[in-house]
Formats: sequence, C-alpha cells, structure tokens
Amino acid sequence: MNERIPIIRPDVAMGDLEDDIRTILESGILTSGKYVAEFEQLVANWVGVDHGIATSSATTALHLALTVAGVGPGDEVLLSDFTYPATANVVVQTGATPVFVDSGTSDLSMDPEHAKALVSEKTRVIMPVDPLGQPADHLSLERLANEVGIHVVVDAACALGASRASRRCGSHGDMGCFSFHPRKVVTCGEGGMVTTDDPVLANQLRLLRNHGARKTSTRAFEFVEAGFNYRLSEIPAAMGISQMRRIDEIVSDRRMTAARYDSEVSSLPGVQILNPPADAHWSYQSYVVLFDESIDRDEVMSRMNQEGIETTVGTYACHQQPVFSKWGYRPGDLPNSDRFANTTLTLPLIPRMAVSQVERVVETLSSILGSF
Ligand SMILES: Cc1ncc(COP(=O)(O)O)c(C=O)c1O
Repeated sequence: MNERIPIIRPDVAMGDLEDDIRTILESGILTSGKYVAEFEQLVANWVGVDHGIATSSATTALHLALTVAGVGPGDEVLLSDFTYPATANVVVQTGATPVFVDSGTSDLSMDPEHAKALVSEKTRVIMPVDPLGQPADHLSLERLANEVGIHVVVDAACALGASRASRRCGSHGDMGCFSFHPRKVVTCGEGGMVTTDDPVLANQLRLLRNHGARKTSTRAFEFVEAGFNYRLSEIPAAMGISQMRRIDEIVSDRRMTAARYDSEVSSLPGVQILNPPADAHWSYQSYVVLFDESIDRDEVMSRMNQEGIETTVGTYACHQQPVFSKWGYRPGDLPNSDRFANTTLTLPLIPRMAVSQVERVVETLSSILGSF
C-alpha cells in the first residue's frame, strides 16, 4: 500500500525548538515577550519593511489592519473575490460593505481594471489578495489607490516568500497581512502578522492588538481605545523563528518541486499549468493547476483521495458563498473568479518532496483523467 501524500506538511522539527520551549517555560513569560519581538523583526527584515506586528492569525491581522485604516459602517472595501472567505468576513465584521472584484482572465489575482470600475465615493480601502502565493499586480493597484487617495491593505496570507516588481510580498500597499496557519509556507500552528513601513500605523496596530492599552508613568496602563486581544504568544513565535532562519531554503525547495510538477503536468491533456508574469516570483504556498471546463474537477479530487493523494480546490469565489448573498451577486457576475473556483486543483507540495512522489501524483492524475 502506497503511503498517503498530504497536501502540505509543516516543516518544523522538535530538535529546532527544544531549547527554546524549555527557556520559555522556565521564564514564565508565555505571551508576547522576546520571542514574539524577534519573530517580528525577522519577518520585517526579510520582507524589507520597518515594522512587523504579530497577531493570533491572518484573520485578526486583516481585521486589525482594516480597523486602523478607519474602515467602518457606510464604507466600501474593494477586495478580491477569488480568495478564502476570511478576507471578506473581516470586511463584514467592520460593518463595511464588501465589493468583490473579479480576477483577470488568465491571472488568479485582482483585475486592476475591474477594481477601477468599481471605485465609488464610499470606497475606503482596496484589499487585493496574493492568491496561493501568486502576487497581485501591486504597481497598478497602488497607482489606483494613490489616484483615489485610499489605503491598500494586502491579504498576503499565502505569500511569504513571493515577490513582485522587485519587492517582497508583505511590502506592497500600506499594510500586508500574513498567515502562519499549518497550510502556509511558515507556520506557528496559528498566527499572523501585519507588516508596514508606516510608524504611525505600526503604533496604532500595536495599541489595538493589545486592548488599546498604553503604559503611563503614573499608572500601569491607561486604556485609550476599545482594542482587541489579537496577540501571538511565545511558543508559536519560537516555531516561526526556527523556520524564518531557513526561509530561503524553504522557499527554494517549494519552487524546485513546483518546477518539477510544471514539466510533468504540462503534457497532460485538459490541464493547464500557471506561470508567473515576468516581474513576479511565486511562493507556491499551493501548487495549482487549471482544468478545462469539460473535466469534473470534484470527481478528480475524490478519486485522487481514494488513491491516497490529498488534493483540494484552488480557493473560493466568495460572491457564491451563502454568507455574502445579501449583497445580491448572481452567477456570472464575476466570471473569471467563478471559473477559477470551479476549475483549479491544488496538488500536494510537501517539504523535500521526492521525485518519485511527484511522479506518483502526476501518474495518478493522468490515469484518472484518461478514464473519463
Ligand atoms: C487568502 C487568505 N486570507 C486569510 C486567510 C486566513 O488565515 P488564518 O487562518 O491565519 O486566519 C487564509 C487562510 O487560508 C487565506 O488563504
């Protein structure tokens, strides 16, 4: 019986962490302390920005970023439709209206032309996603935001390790938001981070992350805003640090496996591989292929699963989800995102994936496709 191939496997070893976990437990400081501070510094330095503000997840990072950008009831936020619904949920939680923007015809990320057409007097923020580690066209989106005079908050949840226009993801727009969930390039179990170059935003993010509490000289704290508890704690930060120390190796390993898949998959009939534009490098948080619409993607997924190979959809077309139905979207309103939600398939990409494992995935896929 062949061993099961998972969609991803966290790349964290006990040996990397034992000493740190002992130090943390002996220090008695379990929530935000020096490990969180070091993790923030490592991520910010690697991304190329001045500030990293660690949070408990990307969802809380996004909510914090939108709150600091002043988003609230009566505002509209333009966001990518083709994304994990957490991106849109946080808009709803601020009380603002989500305005879904389609993907390009051959590019999974936000179409800047469609975004431009949807700008209104109520638009407060543009929130592009770097879907599956594929950076959006940030230069065009930043230009649009500058013209309109609004903030760009990037959902870079999957994009640590990717870059576009000679800048690493997390440094585009006014704020970038990462996830450290186990399906991401670097994981803390759960965790997130906002990255920014703006010291004013960074101060506000730190304040709201920690109950809106500010230290004073006379009292322990004074509470100046109705904040949140969105802090990360020390053991997850130590996990993140251990991976950030080898981030270049982690990313190049993922790119090497992706290149192997590209050459094996490209000859399969009805399957299209996706390639980065000339100014982009992808993180391959997910390795995704595109099927012809004649192929029943969900049937392929379930048959791959029966063969011991985990696969999943690329991601979701948010406007199709029941939670967003009250905004009146109809099938066909966002045709590219719709198509990508129905025709993308994520193949397993695990650390140091053996050539034989890639071959097994592709041979299994080929035989399933041949049987239709
Ligand atoms: C694009 C995107 N945004 C946000 C999230 C939410 O991340 P987290 O689980 O860290 O809250 C995810 C999770 O998969 C995601 O893919």
